Amino acid sequence: MKFLISAGPTREKIDPVRFLTNRSSGKMGYALAEAARDAGHEVVLVSGPVCLEPPPGVQTILIESAAEMAKAIKTHAEDADVVIMAAAVADYRPIMTYADKMKKKDGNLIIELERTEDILASLGKTKRSGQRLVGFAAETRDLIDYAQDKLQRKNLDWIVANDVGKAGQGFAADVNAATMISAEGVTVELPLQDKKALAARIIAILG
Ligand code: CTP
Repeated sequence: MKFLISAGPTREKIDPVRFLTNRSSGKMGYALAEAARDAGHEVVLVSGPVCLEPPPGVQTILIESAAEMAKAIKTHAEDADVVIMAAAVADYRPIMTYADKMKKKDGNLIIELERTEDILASLGKTKRSGQRLVGFAAETRDLIDYAQDKLQRKNLDWIVANDVGKAGQGFAADVNAATMISAEGVTVELPLQDKKALAARIIAILG
């Protein structure tokens, strides 16, 4: 099968030297790409800026912004059997990017932001029969309720919910715990474990 996987953060430019981003390390998405490759699948990985090497045997496309990620994902989604959006895509970007480095002035600075495209929701609208869409929900409270809402709202087949409020797991850590919930109402509890082991479990459930 062909797996299309996104990983890492996006960068939304303010000016040539500044951007908005988040704490995603890309470790979960890269572990999923490696696990899918090891399970014998064809894998395309679309990655934001991370400190990880492109995995051998995986077609890796490096992007920066949410708009670039949307373009790359849509190009490769058409013939993908499984799409896993593990990337922490920015929900907002500055309305305008300054061509020159901004100079400071007295007083406060307000940067107006606009919504980026919700890539997963767009894929949910054009999903072809047989294709499976998997999203991630990182929450600090009401994990299962919010995850179930995302599952339905974005027309997903599975959602991987993880609690990012707990110290030492989730964002940037090497370990994670998750609850996988399917559109059919199946719930799989994945206890705290190495992200590579967790990725292998997730791929086995999807593969
Ligand atoms: N996602 C996406 N495009 C975006 C934002 C998020 O495809 N512009 C995907 C992520 O890759 C992830 C899922 O959607 O799989 C996360 O859902 P989202 O609603 O963005 O979660 P939050 O950013 O936590 O948003 P909310 O404030 O609604 O909780």
